Amino acid sequence: MTLTARPPAKVNLDLTVVGRRDDGFHELLSTFLRVGLTDVLKMRATEGEADRLTVTGLPGVPIRGNLVLAAVEAVRARAGVSLPALEIELDKRIPAAAGLGGGSSDCASAIELAQACWGLALSPADEIDLAASLGSDVPFFVTGHGAATVAGRGERVARADVSVAALILLTPPIELSTAAVFARYDDLGAAGGPDVDGANDLWPAATSLEPRLPELRSALAAATGVEWRMSGSGPTLFALYPSIEAAVADARSLVNEHPATVGDCLIHAVEPDGEDPAWRFP
Ligand code: C5P
Repeated sequence: MTLTARPPAKVNLDLTVVGRRDDGFHELLSTFLRVGLTDVLKMRATEGEADRLTVTGLPGVPIRGNLVLAAVEAVRARAGVSLPALEIELDKRIPAAAGLGGGSSDCASAIELAQACWGLALSPADEIDLAASLGSDVPFFVTGHGAATVAGRGERVARADVSVAALILLTPPIELSTAAVFARYDDLGAAGGPDVDGANDLWPAATSLEPRLPELRSALAAATGVEWRMSGSGPTLFALYPSIEAAVADARSLVNEHPATVGDCLIHAVEPDGEDPAWRFP
């Protein structure tokens, strides 16, 4: 039997870097919000020798080293018994390496689906532990909370009440590695300025690596009259809207009236819940 999951994207409504840890990671405090843009992950047990992953949809997603395969392998290792190989299909709709947590969300869904395929049930504590070993953003997705306050490296997740009706997500074709942004954050030290963005402490580091980001953000703010923030370590920028209709209207007018600014970006107008964006470009 083939099992299907719809791993959602997230945005960081705010992100504070609390400090640097001895293991090189950073202690964070961040409000995560799940958003209605999802990948599709399918899994079934097979007679095959090894787990097999095929990826369709948006480009830029590696097969080797993919967190979905790492998740399946980690669940198998925890089980400690011989388990059938898995045939896995991943259809990518969440832009990769964008600050939207797509890879981490796929990983969390893979932890769930692998257990379901094999008839296993890890305890919630074991799941969080396993999730944290795979990536800092994975525990949030494993909890299934719509919104949460996330602390530590990412392993402390507490459900939060957040009222956001709709958002525009705008992903420019800019490559920003999370590790590089955190390294630049450390290099900048106090010179980066604490939280000059007002919402995301990684903004000075991201913009120091990518000077096109502040220009883009200013242009978006001027065009829409609303505030734009960066999600995670970027490069995705997002804005909050009081209704999905308002978000779709602004997304449309960005594409129609400001093609020079947003023409090469991926744009999604989404509500926090649900699976598919109300509107997307291209
Ligand atoms: O855990 P994850 O693989 O997503 O992290 C990617 C990189 O981001 C890490 O190698 C580390 O450099 C940085 N990071 C960090 N502190 C965090 C999360 C990520 O320094 N809390």
